[in-house]
Amino acid sequence: MSILSPHLVLNMFAFPLLFLFLAAPVFGQDIVYDIGHNVTTIIGTWASGSQNVVTGSNFARPANLSFNYPLTTGISYSFTSDGFYEIARYRMMGNGTQPQCITGVLNWCHGTYNLVSNGSIILTPFDDGYQQIQDPCAPVSNFLETYNDTELYQLWNIYQDAVRGYTLQLYQFDGTPLPPMWQLTSSPNMLPTQPLRNVTPKAKSAAVLLASAGERSWSVSSLTGALSLIAGLGIASMLL
Ligand SMILES: *[C@@H]1O[C@H](CO)[C@@H](O)[C@H](O)[C@H]1NC(C)=O
Ligand SMILES: *[C@@H]1O[C@H](CO)[C@@H](O)[C@H](O)[C@H]1NC(C)=O
Ligand SMILES: *[C@@H]1O[C@H](CO)[C@@H](O)[C@H](O)[C@H]1NC(C)=O
Ligand SMILES: *[C@@H]1O[C@H](CO)[C@@H](O)[C@H](O)[C@H]1NC(C)=O
Ligand SMILES: *[C@@H]1O[C@H](CO)[C@@H](O)[C@H](O)[C@H]1NC(C)=O
Repeated sequence: MSILSPHLVLNMFAFPLLFLFLAAPVFGQDIVYDIGHNVTTIIGTWASGSQNVVTGSNFARPANLSFNYPLTTGISYSFTSDGFYEIARYRMMGNGTQPQCITGVLNWCHGTYNLVSNGSIILTPFDDGYQQIQDPCAPVSNFLETYNDTELYQLWNIYQDAVRGYTLQLYQFDGTPLPPMWQLTSSPNMLPTQPLRNVTPKAKSAAVLLASAGERSWSVSSLTGALSLIAGLGIASMLL
């Protein structure tokens, strides 16, 4: 028997560090998927923020390794009732030492998921995932690479948000919470749940597929291009 009541356990979702500290002794037994843990099933499509990033045919085209660039950054996860998942992510990361060097990543993958009895989720990809990285300050500023990582989410729960409705909260492998995702549809919006391009196994998990995709459209440059250009050419001072 757990020494903690379900409500106390739930409260711990608000404190990922505390959760990690107590994880081993407290979460030794199976999670109860009651209404306090998830008010609805995880099946469906979930998206963060303004929900411009959504799994399915509008985001990734694995056959030709391209992306349809969303208006804003965000993440989206879909889950089917028969064990398949898909992820669409568009993220930007700042660089503390070089503020003009904002790295953008478009990432897509899909595969099979497992709700582990201890409350974790393990996502095992088909190996056809890929991502595009735009780093204006790197020697190769725009490239595609395979993405074939198995992902562990330590915990998840679904609660009812007063404004946004059903809300999926995922905690990453290290307990860090992801941005909350709101249910977009209760039936998953996904590409076909099977490998969608031919891949040859690689020793390394990431292999550069196409360097210098150059003039391919890319939102990071369209969003930050002016800024980088100004900084890069030292025009900033001319504008003062
Ligand atoms: C919560 O999730 C579990 C595991 O997927 C599922 O069996 C259960 O039906 C869900 N609860 C509700 C209220 O939908
Ligand atoms: C990829 O294919 C889609 C249609 O299937 C097309 O609209 C798009 O332009 C293609 N992208 C590239 C980079 O070839
Ligand atoms: C910031 O940019 C520098 C130079 O390009 C790089 O060495 C460093 O790894 C970057 N830091 C982060 C957090 O991306
Ligand atoms: C659940 O089990 C998996 C291995 O099956 C492990 O990697 C994960 O850390 C465990 N999660 C928790 C919350 O203990
Ligand atoms: C993807 O990862 C799995 C498990 O690590 C591995 O067996 C497979 O060969 C990888 N696929 C590619 C294309 O690298």
